[in-house]
Amino acid sequence: MSVSDAFDEWARSGKDQGMEERHWHTAKHALARLPAEPGDTILDLGCGSGYAGRALRETKDVGRVYGIDAAPEMAHNAASYTEDDAVAFAIGDFECLPFDDDSIDHCWSMEAFYYAEDPRAVLDELQRVLRPGGTFYCAVNRWEENVHSHEWEELVGVPMLLWSEARYREAFSEAGFAVASQDRIPDTETTIPAESDFPTEDWETRTAMIERYREYGTLLTVGTNTA
Ligand SMILES: C[S@@+](CC[C@H](N)C(=O)[O-])C[C@H]1O[C@@H](n2cnc3c(N)ncnc32)[C@H](O)[C@@H]1O
Repeated sequence: MSVSDAFDEWARSGKDQGMEERHWHTAKHALARLPAEPGDTILDLGCGSGYAGRALRETKDVGRVYGIDAAPEMAHNAASYTEDDAVAFAIGDFECLPFDDDSIDHCWSMEAFYYAEDPRAVLDELQRVLRPGGTFYCAVNRWEENVHSHEWEELVGVPMLLWSEARYREAFSEAGFAVASQDRIPDTETTIPAESDFPTEDWETRTAMIERYREYGTLLTVGTNTA
């Protein structure tokens, strides 16, 4: 199945909103760090329901947000969740961004980068569209050290990268980004049932669930365009 077919189906069945709710647990902490100034232009790569752009308009008064998503139904849903004219959504691919050189102040992406077929091409595109000093905030819940995420490729049914923390840093550097920071943001909100409730449908042990959410959470790698 293609990534756009998979996520079109998620959008049609309303799973985009559940995904937003789950991702918001850690995304809100990462977004709070984004050094956006009032009036800035923000790109959301693989925007899903578009919650990040809506939040940045409210909390940081950014001037414009563009959400790009490969799944037409996702972009359509995202557009239907806001009446804000400063937020726009388009169907597109990370590897070919419809923006001029140096036209974006900051780029945000949550749980999307690992779907890239050619991650270097995506990073090169970001280098092109980000202004000097602009940042790429790349948040993922699936990566090598988070062993609990390894089975997701099979569950979702589309190919996914499984990079280590070091590989993210290396790839950013190779593409010309200065790695400003990399850390794990714990998810302190997902409810973890009592010991007596395990095993659950999704978790064999309480220890594994605690590790997944409280210890690993979300990996945030921040690159700065030093061009
Ligand atoms: C797991 S969802 C995450 C959505 C949203 N960022 C969030 O945090 O809830 C991944 C999204 O990335 C999109 N996507 C995957 N590969 C893409 C690509 N190459 N270009 C554009 N969008 C892509 C999918 O269609 C999907 O909506």
